[in-house]
Amino acid sequence: MPDYGLSGGGWQADERENSKLSKALAGTLERPPKMEKMREASRGIANQGRDNRSNLTRKERKMKRITATLAGSLIALAATAPASFADKLTYYCSAQEDWCQLMARSFEDATGIDVNMTRKSSGETFAQVRAESSNPKGDVWWGGTGDPHLQAAEEGLTMEYISPMRDQLHDWAIAQAESAGNKTIGIYSGALGYGFNTELVAANSLPEPSCWKDLLKPEYKGHVQMANPNSSGTAYTTLASMVQIFGEDDGFEFMKGLHANINQYTKSGSAPIKAAGRGENTIGIVFMHDAVKQAVSGFPIKVVAPCEGTGYEIGSMSIIEGARNLEEAKMFYDWALSVEAQNLALQVNAFQVPSNKGAETSESAPDMSLIKLIDYDFKKYGSSDERKRLLQKWDEEVSTLPQ
Ligand code: F6P
Repeated sequence: MPDYGLSGGGWQADERENSKLSKALAGTLERPPKMEKMREASRGIANQGRDNRSNLTRKERKMKRITATLAGSLIALAATAPASFADKLTYYCSAQEDWCQLMARSFEDATGIDVNMTRKSSGETFAQVRAESSNPKGDVWWGGTGDPHLQAAEEGLTMEYISPMRDQLHDWAIAQAESAGNKTIGIYSGALGYGFNTELVAANSLPEPSCWKDLLKPEYKGHVQMANPNSSGTAYTTLASMVQIFGEDDGFEFMKGLHANINQYTKSGSAPIKAAGRGENTIGIVFMHDAVKQAVSGFPIKVVAPCEGTGYEIGSMSIIEGARNLEEAKMFYDWALSVEAQNLALQVNAFQVPSNKGAETSESAPDMSLIKLIDYDFKKYGSSDERKRLLQKWDEEVSTLPQ
């Protein structure tokens, strides 16, 4: 089982490291005028710290602490900024929409750099980056499952970069980078599973499922939804996990049996559990953190860590080869690895495990140390040949079967 380092205790230490980095960098380079905005933002954030602490609720204090730590990286960003900027960044995002938006706006506020963000699923973004490779339009690709980022690295679609923030990351995030010649890096992780709408299960007199194989039972016909593994990283992780848990032949038999119960293959990975939350679908195969998000939002969703064990993702980030705004892309990359940027996840109920050892993991996040995780072979299933082969086989042998 991978070491997720969730035992905690590192937050304050890393915060100190962060401010050491800020201090070391501050003032070593001349700031371009545009960076004035960062310094203003830093001053504003620092002043907020004088508010009366006792008037704040626990949640407000927590948010304030998150915001206050941003000051450190603003100084660092201002100090590392080169003398000339295009002041814009084209950012492809493959995490959940609200998190993508928050990351874009927060980076914009911190730096004054205009961010043009597009959210697409992991497989879709990979296809777009490949299609644009002779004339790249994107600068940085943040979020989405690691497999297509690894494939992009192998195909030379993303570029090598070693961030000064790297020492602050968990080993699993660095291992992701090292296995791809530093052309990608881990930004979060999360385990695959499923969630179901408890009211619909009860209303249809269905048993509560707890294993992967339960989902093959005929009584669940028309009650299960997952995404299409071509577009969605979640669904590709599902396919690759079934092959690793059951072996290739039985894994494909599983996918064929599941196909008989599927009511719809969606484009985006989290759509099936959102539909379950709305009462439009019963069971959604998703990352467990996406199911928790629905439950925490008040929907009648129960989250399942399947009994046979399960796969997981290392959500990743890459700079696109040929990026037109390379300096801005590197600034975004460094900032996105900081404690303060990763703590933004808490504002949008993103319950993945962050890759910075000092970033906070929500108490509501699935506890990775309690989930039976397989030793997911990222090298193999993130390789170009294997991903292409499995997707083609799924297209030919599973998706074409009658339902
Ligand atoms: O919704 C968030 C998330 O589950 C991420 O953890 C994951 O990397 C991404 O979505 C995958 O999205 P998709 O399956 O649409 O590619």
